[in-house]
Amino acid sequence: MASTAPNAPETLDASFFQDPQPVYAQLRKEGPVRRVTLPHGWEVWIVTKYDEARAALADPRLLKDGRKLDQYLDPELLGDQSVFAEALRAHMLSSDPPDHTRLRKLVMKAFTSRRVEALRPRIEAITDELLEEMAANAPTDGTPVDLINSFAFPLPMTVICELLGVPFEDRDDFRTWSTVVVADNPTEEEIRSASYAMAGYLSQLIARKRAEPEDDLLTGLVQAREDDDRFDENELIAMTFLLLVAGHETTVNLIGNGVVALLRDPDQLTRLRSDLSLVPGAVEEMLRFDGPVNLATLRFASETVQIGDVEIAPGEIVLVSLGSANHDPGRFDDADRLDVGRAAQGHLAFGHGIHYCVGAPLARLEGEIAFRKLLTRFPGLALGGEPEQLRWRESSLIRGLERLPVQLG
Ligand code: HEM
Repeated sequence: MASTAPNAPETLDASFFQDPQPVYAQLRKEGPVRRVTLPHGWEVWIVTKYDEARAALADPRLLKDGRKLDQYLDPELLGDQSVFAEALRAHMLSSDPPDHTRLRKLVMKAFTSRRVEALRPRIEAITDELLEEMAANAPTDGTPVDLINSFAFPLPMTVICELLGVPFEDRDDFRTWSTVVVADNPTEEEIRSASYAMAGYLSQLIARKRAEPEDDLLTGLVQAREDDDRFDENELIAMTFLLLVAGHETTVNLIGNGVVALLRDPDQLTRLRSDLSLVPGAVEEMLRFDGPVNLATLRFASETVQIGDVEIAPGEIVLVSLGSANHDPGRFDDADRLDVGRAAQGHLAFGHGIHYCVGAPLARLEGEIAFRKLLTRFPGLALGGEPEQLRWRESSLIRGLERLPVQLG
């Protein structure tokens, strides 16, 4: 990263995705908010220090719905938004009150700690099944197993599909669409084709639930829409899209990033193995240390907003870097060190304020079960190659590995 005059944008190149923390450390030294050009070319503000990040996440002047700000937004900056299917856009994570409040209320009840805890036996059974399958299919010639493909991805994907009532056989299709939708620089054609395919698929699935109701969350949402007109058809499609994508793109990387962090730190791994009661706290620490949503919690300034000594003009994009805030030494002692016994509460990996992650209780439960069972089932688990060979996805939204080769031991 070249050093530049204050407030001239720092240009981040693609190596940022492979190891963002040194870049964040440098940016934090320069102040709590910096102008940055992202590897795919967007020029944005990024908030890097904990206190300012937490305040920005709860600041009602920083909006999610850029469409309200058409008069300010530079179309060149955002590209042609019409290539993204309209039906997928009206979800709560891109809405502001009062729409946001109305949409969030519809699903909040399905994700309370109590409702989620009731899923424990089923999540444990799915986890056991995947671990046994992984052991049975492991090559006998020492070729590593990809932990992402065989465990970290199918676990949350199976859970969210069962909860919503989405046929699991269709998972390869959403994985393909979803990868395009969260990528930084898909072509217009790729985004058009993936988003319209996803919207068409969800619309048909909703029609099927209407005709043949089942005992699942999606049928519940369809019926809530029939009973009174609290939300429209596009909002229903977009809600399903958000839950499906948020439900699997993130938890897969809590498992993947957490496993890598542990396998690279044998002392912490041994400590956790020898006292599995530390697992729930260790999951919080893994979320803090290398959480799945690293950078792009995107917001638009609706008026002039001052953060630190910087004035952000209306219409400008503000990214709150959760990955940087969670390594701010002003908030966490020895922040760059993994410490499975640390009280990591207060980390921002699930966001903060009105958009705080709806799925947090589910993600925590999946993480706890996944780590406890994985460490117990495979006492000799080890990296299947050099750590330097691991490739991280080039996405500002998601921090996760493309593949995680391991030896099961
Ligand atoms: C929102 C992280 C798992 C559903 C968020 C936000 C973050 C986040 C940071 C707020 C983004 C912002 O303010 O811009 C995570 C992480 C997860 C995870 C790290 C796993 C470890 C899940 C799961 C689900 C889910 C399993 C669903 C079943 C949602 C929804 C929102 C959200 C619906 C939007 C909430 C709103 O706008 O009010 N998540 N998430 N997430 N998450 Fe998660």
